[in-house]
Amino acid sequence: MNTRNQPGSAGPSAARLWGGAFASDVDPVIDAYTRSLPFDHRLAAADLVGCLAHARMLLDTGVIDRESSSAILEGLSSLLRRVEAGDLQVGGADEDVHTWIERQLTEEIGDSGRRLHTARSRNDQTAVALRLWQRAEIERAVALAAEFAAALIERARRHTGTALPGYTHLQRGQPTSLAQHLLAHAWSALADAGRLRRAHRTAGLCPLGAGAMAGSPHPIDPHRSAELLGMEAPYPNAMWAVADRDYAAEALFACALVMVHLSRWAEEVVLWTSSEFGFARLQDRAAKGSSIMPQKKNPEPAEILRGKSGRAVGDLVSLLVTVKGLPLTYNSDLQEDKEALFDAFDTVQASLGVAKVLAESLEFDRDAMASALEGAYVTATDLADHLAMAGVPFRSAHERTGAVVRAAEERSVELWQLSVSELRELVPEIEDTGALLAALRPEASLAAHRSYGGPAPERVIGQIELAAERLEEERRWLAELEPPPIYHAHLGGDLLAEAIPGAGE
Ligand code: ARG
Repeated sequence: MNTRNQPGSAGPSAARLWGGAFASDVDPVIDAYTRSLPFDHRLAAADLVGCLAHARMLLDTGVIDRESSSAILEGLSSLLRRVEAGDLQVGGADEDVHTWIERQLTEEIGDSGRRLHTARSRNDQTAVALRLWQRAEIERAVALAAEFAAALIERARRHTGTALPGYTHLQRGQPTSLAQHLLAHAWSALADAGRLRRAHRTAGLCPLGAGAMAGSPHPIDPHRSAELLGMEAPYPNAMWAVADRDYAAEALFACALVMVHLSRWAEEVVLWTSSEFGFARLQDRAAKGSSIMPQKKNPEPAEILRGKSGRAVGDLVSLLVTVKGLPLTYNSDLQEDKEALFDAFDTVQASLGVAKVLAESLEFDRDAMASALEGAYVTATDLADHLAMAGVPFRSAHERTGAVVRAAEERSVELWQLSVSELRELVPEIEDTGALLAALRPEASLAAHRSYGGPAPERVIGQIELAAERLEEERRWLAELEPPPIYHAHLGGDLLAEAIPGAGE
């Protein structure tokens, strides 16, 4: 989504929350450059939820009277309902989304609206809105990562016996299974979901009550604000509260790593669907054509996925550089935190969806995979392992096996096609040469690699269950999420209830 070209031109009449001490209007060039409404309009709903909690805390602590607070709570609730329904467009000439909210509220309920900003600054306001926004986006991203992992796990179930070469240095190394290969990507996606959840937790400290950076002389209750927002606790230090962007940095790192992982998945798709590998074809729904070469079916979604990883890494670097060297506490540089987060989450969410479609639309070619197991001596390590099992030190076994590979190469045969007499001469330590020849077939090698985490079909079947359990953990976390108590109260229309349901007193 293009967040740069929002409606509403900046100009001398732009609404702002200050100006009493200013003799003239801000230059239009400066105004346009410094406004954040063109992008932070995306925080409107989250900011309104933060405002509701603040207003309710002001009521509970008696900082503002019941009449004003009830007007404010109802006004905010009505704005939130219309913003979420898309009936009210967030835009215009205001300086930022916080200014927009306060203006809308005051237009709607009159002068009571001018009390909402008591014991608050935009510094703590914007920080709480960004946290709430980030939490909601993380929830979406976790759900998408879980779905991608689920798609890979589903495909793996049918391919525990499908053998193909595993690669190191992009050279054929040892036999593995397609299930094992797909599951390696699924585990990355599950780890990503876990990392995103940790960033969700980090965003659970509540900055409300920090004010500009010095707290407040009003008898406010920051614990109550945190509780109303379903956040873990208030910040123990008001300066840290408005200066801190760790939660954003952690979320951006989690997003960057999701994209780095997806770029590797995408590369797999590009390689496998190349004529050179030929391990898979993409269904037409997931490929694109060439404007000049009629025969082409390009893995463009995978290429674009691979390409987009760069921007998520850029978003992380952008935030880290923004925060680096900033003096405490809030500085306007921090206004730059938002677009990095918006872009990273837009990119991650769209890309996880594409990664899943790619996983579902690969049509595998088992024969091509089986052919790739030939001609590359992918079971040479098995021979060395057999020698080691017969008592030969592995380093010597490695050398001896090299000689066997050379002999097979000279005769242009596979290891398992050497004659019994030839092999017996080369490795006399192994008594049953016939059994050894059979063990050097790729399927036998696969079955023999049954160590924990290995590719043997029986192991991989167990691993699939483990991955499915991890997936369930993510799904449970998603299912158990509760909306912030104040949001719940807004939905129920009981913002003035004695105790807000869900908020433990
Ligand atoms: N638009 C600002 C931001 O995004 C809100 C905070 C402004 N605070 C201030 N003291 N100017 O960071």
